[in-house]
Amino acid sequence: MRKLLAAVCLYTMLVWQPSVGQTLGIASAPNPRISVRSGIYDPSLDAKVEALLHKMTLEEKVGQLAQYSAGQPTGPGTGRTDYEDMIAKGQIGALFNISTAKETNAYQRIAVEKSRLHIPIVFGLDVINGFRTEFPIPLGLASSWDPLLVEHVTRIAAREASASGIRWTFSPMVDIARDARWGRMAEGAGEDPFLGSEMAAAYVRGYQGSRLDTPDSIAACAKHYVGYGAAEGGRDYNTTEISEHTLRQFYLPPFHAAVNAGAATIMSAFNAINGVPASANPFTLQQVLRKEWGFRGVVDSDWEAVGELIPHGIANDGLTAVRKGFLAGVDMDMTSSLYHDHLAQLVRLGQIPQVRLDESVRRVLRLKFALGLFDRPYTDETHEAEAMLRPEAISLARTAAERSFVLLKNSPGPNNTPILPISNDVHDIALIGPLADDPPNTESLAKLDRNEDLISFRAALSKHVGEQHLFRIRGADITGGTDEDQAAAVAAAGKADVVVLALGEDTAMSGEAASRSKLGLPGRQQELLEKVVATGKPVVLILFSGRPLTLPWAFEHVPAVLAAWFPGIQAGPALVRTLFGESNPSGKLVVSWPRSVGQEPLYYNALSTGRPIDNTDPTKPPSDDKYLSRYIDELNSPQFPFGYGLSYTSLRYGATELSRVQLKASSLNAMLNARGVREIALTASAEVTNTGSRTAEEVVQVYVRLQGTSVAQPVRALKGFRRITLAPGETKKVAFDLGPDAFAMWNDRNLFAAEPAKVSIWISPDSAHGTAGAVEIVP
Ligand code: NOJ
Repeated sequence: MRKLLAAVCLYTMLVWQPSVGQTLGIASAPNPRISVRSGIYDPSLDAKVEALLHKMTLEEKVGQLAQYSAGQPTGPGTGRTDYEDMIAKGQIGALFNISTAKETNAYQRIAVEKSRLHIPIVFGLDVINGFRTEFPIPLGLASSWDPLLVEHVTRIAAREASASGIRWTFSPMVDIARDARWGRMAEGAGEDPFLGSEMAAAYVRGYQGSRLDTPDSIAACAKHYVGYGAAEGGRDYNTTEISEHTLRQFYLPPFHAAVNAGAATIMSAFNAINGVPASANPFTLQQVLRKEWGFRGVVDSDWEAVGELIPHGIANDGLTAVRKGFLAGVDMDMTSSLYHDHLAQLVRLGQIPQVRLDESVRRVLRLKFALGLFDRPYTDETHEAEAMLRPEAISLARTAAERSFVLLKNSPGPNNTPILPISNDVHDIALIGPLADDPPNTESLAKLDRNEDLISFRAALSKHVGEQHLFRIRGADITGGTDEDQAAAVAAAGKADVVVLALGEDTAMSGEAASRSKLGLPGRQQELLEKVVATGKPVVLILFSGRPLTLPWAFEHVPAVLAAWFPGIQAGPALVRTLFGESNPSGKLVVSWPRSVGQEPLYYNALSTGRPIDNTDPTKPPSDDKYLSRYIDELNSPQFPFGYGLSYTSLRYGATELSRVQLKASSLNAMLNARGVREIALTASAEVTNTGSRTAEEVVQVYVRLQGTSVAQPVRALKGFRRITLAPGETKKVAFDLGPDAFAMWNDRNLFAAEPAKVSIWISPDSAHGTAGAVEIVP
């Protein structure tokens, strides 16, 4: 115990600026394995729920299961406008897409004062990466590999959103994303189930706080259950084929982690899984979620997902869609209005049992009791403004942005030293590109974009170097531009000591309904890049995007490239501090960065195939054997692997050492089956040395491969990671205590168990390097 406390303190000291942690009142790093069985799981709520349920008419029960968007729509509209009347009649349980205390209070007053049973409304919103204080997009936040940071970010988001009456966020998106064409990759934590699970739990802890019924806590909604990220061809809303094995091994774990962290709600997805839409899927919604995981919260459909069972082809009318969706386990209908139209009739016809209806209504009522809405339905409008953009929130937004940046390349420039950080002796900088000072394009995916909150890259850079030393030329628009624009950019570059290019996508090019079939720079930006590089000036490329972009030319010819994602309202200060070395980049990729779009879907934790090819090293000629699993025109390996990211210092990893050479499958399985204390199966360690001249913050990763098992396992699978700080010249031995789960797998009977296997373990800076240690699992 003492050891654990010491580790937690050390971690907090290393990772966190005390001032930020203290202001937020979060004392220590949480134990991700402790389930939060309070809130919706609190048994003391049951009596209140039953008493209220008892008083409700059939129509009032159905009303609690209907949810509508009352503000800016975030999907195809339902065309309803009669919400006030419906609320007064008890026909609406939840509203979303409104975002001020005044509006939420106005609707709440109708529910509480005019409806027969005075049941409050729960107000929801897509609070994705902050509410008023906009943080980096989730893909960027995940690139910090810092769950505690994410927990702090979501705590702030909860405080701000709840000050406006929002007590339910449709976040986190915990979909595994393996295909950069899919625009919603931007909203999640990338391709890995282990990292995704750590992040999912952190989001939930931050939003829901220590108690759901404190006024500044908001209910989390883990979405989109499940498999949505596996959309074929990366095309949003498309269908998916996912075997039960793959579902359990890759797509379900982050949802399970969110449930274990106490997530109050889950959103059922749009996609079909093996032909059965996720919003009418008894296997995922009942067997896995309710029976195996014991989830007691609300399952909310995604926007119109119940109505979409008709175009999916499993229902020919609204009545059937409701019957299938509801009986499969969708409690609440977001926007389709079909529960409102047909659910009562189906109960009367006996096609939906009354007890089944009561179950769903109980869940919604329990959520509202757990949030304390019956005691405090209204929001104090006089405190709303002061809750927003508080100094600690802004400072956290900057820290989060800095930790989200991934330095992809930093080679020597013309004077033979790495281009970054830019020396303070540099006088004149040309800032070129369409993404340096255009707030809506550089901030985030959050819905409340307010340009005045942002400190743009241009503003911060101009302040740093002095306006007279900054030559600002756009050079191109995101999707267009003229020859004259480009000529002006080249002229500005020619006058400068260093050129900083801000290129990429705008925010509308990722997120929902923003799939791309090409992943290069849009418009004429590639042309602009090539012309500016041709000036021979030192060039730094800052990429803004919601996904990796395929830029092989840039990675060959531009000396320094930083992936900035969409950094949020502190984009400018965070970028300037990073470019000039006040902050040392420490983010690492959470998605494999493709060389070309044809490699997608691309993910590191793939299976080997029967004809693997080792063409991972681009400096060596690829094998010329034709009959291998390969492309004839591209390497298999990514441009940059999962887990990759440079910093302004250099690191050396020693060999992976293991505390044991042999493990027993039977003992591992006994440990897995033992409830309670988590046992250590093996300790893996390695020395990591900072060989450079700056302090390093390094995310050390541990990967495992199992060979000889009943079901083929990934060539590597992440099983742990830790952020450490190393002074120049310092060496630390980094040890990972691996539990039995690191050596178990979903076997050929779809059971999670250990099997005899040959095991390789790497402690490494990313998923493609490091020296493996070996251990054997015997029966
Ligand atoms: C549809 C999106 O898929 C979902 O993520 C979002 O929460 C809802 N619209 C509500 O805006």
